[in-house]
Amino acid sequence: MKVYEVQKGCTSLDGLVRAERPEPQPGPREVLIRVRATSLNYRDHMIVHGHYFTPVSRPTIPLSDGAGEVAAVGPGVTRFRKGDRVAGAFFQIWFDGPPSARHPALGVPLDGALAEYMVLHEDGVVVIPASLSFEEAATLPCAGVTAWNALMVSGTSVKPGDIVLCLGTGGVSMLGMQFAVAAGARAIVTSSSDEKLKKACSLGASDGVNYKRTPDWEKEVLRLTGGRGVQHIIEIGGAGTLSRSFESIGFGGKVALIGFLAGQAADINPIPLMMKGGSLQGIGVGSTAMFEAMNRAIEVNRIKPIVAKVFPFEKAADAFRCLAAGDFVGKVVITV
Ligand SMILES: NC(=O)c1ccc[n+]([C@@H]2O[C@H](COP(=O)([O-])OP(=O)(O)OC[C@H]3O[C@@H](n4cnc5c(N)ncnc54)[C@H](OP(=O)(O)O)[C@@H]3O)[C@@H](O)[C@H]2O)c1
Repeated sequence: MKVYEVQKGCTSLDGLVRAERPEPQPGPREVLIRVRATSLNYRDHMIVHGHYFTPVSRPTIPLSDGAGEVAAVGPGVTRFRKGDRVAGAFFQIWFDGPPSARHPALGVPLDGALAEYMVLHEDGVVVIPASLSFEEAATLPCAGVTAWNALMVSGTSVKPGDIVLCLGTGGVSMLGMQFAVAAGARAIVTSSSDEKLKKACSLGASDGVNYKRTPDWEKEVLRLTGGRGVQHIIEIGGAGTLSRSFESIGFGGKVALIGFLAGQAADINPIPLMMKGGSLQGIGVGSTAMFEAMNRAIEVNRIKPIVAKVFPFEKAADAFRCLAAGDFVGKVVITV
């Protein structure tokens, strides 16, 4: 089968190479998936450039997120049949309940989805919503489940009438915006680009704040909310934005700490969080059960993930370049 591999010690896109591997066979309780589409996350950019926490220690098939159909099942499989439309879960395998261990993830250290086939244990696979194409479903395993966990599972959940602040217009933030709106909440989005804010507003956000033109964007968020503040934040900036996020929340608000795109270390003032009885909730993607619950909500609410750009398998390196350039709203997808 055709695959891409990220070479050991890879530090640039030169280390992403085409390769051939034997078609894998499903063992007991395993499912063989014919991958049809995959999507990129910021994590994949970090892996290829040698910046990720887990180093690449052997030639590894990249990308955690893939959707396709079941081509065969191994002995003892009860959750799936040949022909089911499925996606792999990010963690193999965190099936249900709160996080209790560090489970290995697809795309490093485990082989990922940028291949014609992948074999996964059935407990690390979910049926995708019938309302979605493979391209749309491929956006969900990392970005979707992370946004769902942040807003609907860990700590307080979004309620109708809440206000949710989504930082940036990337994969996690846009799916978070869509889940918030579907739950009856109002979503405010920040971005470095007015054009992207316009797009986010056309897709459901109530307001946009340009964090480049308005560096003290927390003041604008408080103004937009009549001083009330927001109840949830999709925090993808990390240390570089946390102080402003603590200023932006209202009483009892929750900051879901997801990323660190604005830096990993900074002088952070936690006092506003304390004074408002707010909470800081770390998020590590989510479980198979969260993925299944999210898919039910996507189907019932007819949520369509935002597929910004689609690249063919042969142009996978261009998809990585597109992600690095950041010139998109939503998700970058590769078909297989
Ligand atoms: N903890 C977890 O489980 C988990 C899961 C998934 C992702 N993550 C992390 O979450 C972050 C986002 O991942 P992603 O895959 O959604 O990335 P992405 O699709 O590449 O989107 C990144 C977006 O972040 C925005 N951004 C960058 N710097 C910003 C800043 N200072 N303030 C506000 N927004 C900023 C940019 O928005 P504009 O272009 O609109 O300015 C950019 O489009 C990454 O750090 C990733 O590693 C963590």
